[in-house]
Amino acid sequence: MIADGQIRSRSRVEQHGEVFTSEREVNAMLDLVLQETERIDSRFLEPACGTGNFLIEILCRKLKVVLRRYRKNQSDYEKYAFIAVSSLYGIDILEDNVMECRARLFERFDCEYSKLFGENCQETFRDAIRFLLQKNILCGDALTLKTNAGEPIVFSEWAIVSDTQVKRRDFAFDEILAGHNKQTSLACFAEKAKYDRESQAFIPAPVAEFPLTDFAGVVTYE
Ligand SMILES: C[S@@+](CC[C@H](N)C(=O)[O-])C[C@H]1O[C@@H](n2cnc3c(N)ncnc32)[C@H](O)[C@@H]1O
Repeated sequence: MIADGQIRSRSRVEQHGEVFTSEREVNAMLDLVLQETERIDSRFLEPACGTGNFLIEILCRKLKVVLRRYRKNQSDYEKYAFIAVSSLYGIDILEDNVMECRARLFERFDCEYSKLFGENCQETFRDAIRFLLQKNILCGDALTLKTNAGEPIVFSEWAIVSDTQVKRRDFAFDEILAGHNKQTSLACFAEKAKYDRESQAFIPAPVAEFPLTDFAGVVTYE
């Protein structure tokens, strides 16, 4: 049964199939991969993310773990909250959904961050989290793999290389998917992509690489 709040308008349903998933269903589905949802660095992509009903629940689960383990140390808390947010990706074709999704995820992070550290919260860290969400939650077409401007969708990988440093590498989404396609011919990827035994997929060459920076410094990347 479809409840209030799952539909915004008949035209949005007709044009974009916009029927949001209820919290109960989201949680039941996430429970099927419970361990992954509680692993701070496990990556999730919600294609056709709407306002982020799956991403928000995953973020809640990850941040509960961060809170339990790192609440007593602000720099540890910031490091692991950064990892949690940076591991979540979304695409939606409607700009207003993308904006709402980013705002929801930010508020979920910031509510707890503010409660925990009050006046010691760093505005530069909040800006870094906003920047992550701007890069990871994108407006585009999950079928053509293009942005609404017709450019290929590009996702950033955020790798924490020490307690305070992060490395960003950008990958074209269509190349990531091609690397997971068992039909992909070696010849077409051999020069640019590397085979990863663990994921049994070709990892494409990045389309951009950025210098190491501290967490707050990610906002200077672009
Ligand atoms: C059924 S809703 C699901 C939203 C959310 N994942 C949820 O479970 O609540 C489908 C969403 O897909 C978006 N959408 C429709 N076609 C799309 C496409 N080609 N690429 C990306 N998003 C699309 C719509 O804007 C809508 O937000």
